[in-house]
Amino acid sequence: MCGIVGYLGTRDAYPIIIEGLKRLEYRGYDSAGIALFDGTDLKVSKTKGKVADLEKKSEAEITTHGCVGIGHTRWATHGVPNDVNSHPHVSNSGELVIIHNGIIENYDSLKQELTSRGYTFKSDTDTEVLINLIEYVKKTEGVKLGKAVQIALNQVIGAYAIAVFDKNKPEEVVVAKLGSPLAIGIGKDEDEFFIASDASPFIEYTKNAVYLEDEEMAVIRFHKGIKVRKIKDDSLVDTYVQELQINLEQIEKGGYEHFMLKEIHEQPKAIQDTYRGRLLRNEAIIKMAGIEDNMKKFLNANRIIVVACGTSWHAGLVAEYIFEDLARIPVEVEYASEFRYRNPVITENDVLIAISQSGETADTLAAIKLAKSKGAFVFGVCNVVGSSIARESHAGAYTHAGPEIGVASTKAFTTQITVLTLIALRLARAKGTISSSDFRQHLLELEMIPGKVEQALKSDDLIKNIANIYKDAKNMLYLGRGFNFPVALEGALKLKEISYIHAEGYPAAEMKHGPIALIDENMPVIVIATKKGHYEKVVSNIQEIKSRKGKIIGIVTEGDVQVRQLADHVIEVPESLEALSPLLTTIPLQLLSYHIAVMLGKNVDQPRNLAKSVTVE
Ligand code: G6P
Repeated sequence: MCGIVGYLGTRDAYPIIIEGLKRLEYRGYDSAGIALFDGTDLKVSKTKGKVADLEKKSEAEITTHGCVGIGHTRWATHGVPNDVNSHPHVSNSGELVIIHNGIIENYDSLKQELTSRGYTFKSDTDTEVLINLIEYVKKTEGVKLGKAVQIALNQVIGAYAIAVFDKNKPEEVVVAKLGSPLAIGIGKDEDEFFIASDASPFIEYTKNAVYLEDEEMAVIRFHKGIKVRKIKDDSLVDTYVQELQINLEQIEKGGYEHFMLKEIHEQPKAIQDTYRGRLLRNEAIIKMAGIEDNMKKFLNANRIIVVACGTSWHAGLVAEYIFEDLARIPVEVEYASEFRYRNPVITENDVLIAISQSGETADTLAAIKLAKSKGAFVFGVCNVVGSSIARESHAGAYTHAGPEIGVASTKAFTTQITVLTLIALRLARAKGTISSSDFRQHLLELEMIPGKVEQALKSDDLIKNIANIYKDAKNMLYLGRGFNFPVALEGALKLKEISYIHAEGYPAAEMKHGPIALIDENMPVIVIATKKGHYEKVVSNIQEIKSRKGKIIGIVTEGDVQVRQLADHVIEVPESLEALSPLLTTIPLQLLSYHIAVMLGKNVDQPRNLAKSVTVE
């Protein structure tokens, strides 16, 4: 859950690393650091705070640059965020330097052993233990850096993506991966190499990348190329050089004030990209290779288990409603972190769908491994191409949302729902649980969703006004029913994540079993009350809120009259099929939380304590 960057080549490594860290800052942003070899000595600068703070500090501290270096942006696991605990960490001799994303679980016993051999530690981190272990192995066994890294990693329990170099041999960088992602960008003629947690730091330099697999390490040598080996048995691995599809534009703000706002506005296109080539309306078919090739698995499945975390879990809940309604397949939705540890009953007749934007979430990955070990068929729904979850799954479907940088997930959510809807429709057709005319109707309506999202985005000014009225609220309640209950949960999560206002999502009818006690004139209640979703029942819930003086913000279907009469504010979304309505009702909730957070002066793209991808437990 930290970001790592490295460079080895002929250019000045400093700006490449600093710019790279800025792009990876979504992964962690409580401290940052850089280490360079300037031709004579190792230069290290690190600080608590953002990459911008590092930039200021390092400009003063590192005045001579060089062509090899590593950098890190941190989300603390061991040791509070401060200058000393920031990476890179240098070994006791001052010769070796490391950056690390992950956790060394047995660091304490390793630390004791190293301490007994005379090693001392400045920081509280597990990473400083690892670099000293590497140094100890290198010195006592008289081996090269690559071998020392390999021997040390075989003593380590935990997860890591690391980059290490020796100031006495700066033409070589050693990297290794287990559990955390690591990509190596390869320059033309192999005269320069980039190392990063994802490809965004180097896409303007090269489109060729090697993604290390778990338990692999690579020795990268200037002008000599990369040698990848298995950490356990030292066997050489054939490297597969992948051509990257992303471009620079996709990861820049493009005139928007924040990535989150950009990504909210990208949803019409992202949804279209998700169904492009899969939804063939004229032929009235849905074509998805991952489903076609494994149709029997789905049709014979006793049930589908969905595992995910955070926003992706909410998309899973929407999927439960859609799959059961359209394809009549029983679905259970589980938090990956609970599932993996609660001894679940899994059989060979279960299909597990893992949903993850990043494809790197540690708990989701572990849930997949557990399900696979019990013989279940695993289908991954990921956004990041080539991510660990995508690779670990038996089959899958990408969401094609494009890079999502804002920590609060927006377009990932709607594109996940889009993919899952396509799958549900395809299975419904195969099972015969949907009539041909209903199927066609869904295809037609799905194709109209991007235009309708565009329409929903037009309420921005109205939503800004509403945000201004309620920005100082201490609590907010979000209610929805049926397909829109998960949207209420997601709306509340968005508000919590970026504005730090306490918010709860609840099924509207369940309100009377508890949350109704919270309602008074200070409680804004956002109610999703679209025409097709148990409308009359939700109207009754709104009346219950009104009679207790709660402030009502209704998310309603265009032209609504009834809720408008009761609510303090209404935000309209275009009409659509009930199963597709979450794709529209979620839009005003994203904008509401965005505007409130901006008005409160919060860091929208990098909310406190959060990270974009959680690659630790
Ligand atoms: C973190 C992010 C959330 C995200 C969750 C799951 O908590 O801050 O926005 O929903 O992880 O991430 P994934 O990449 O697996 O969808």
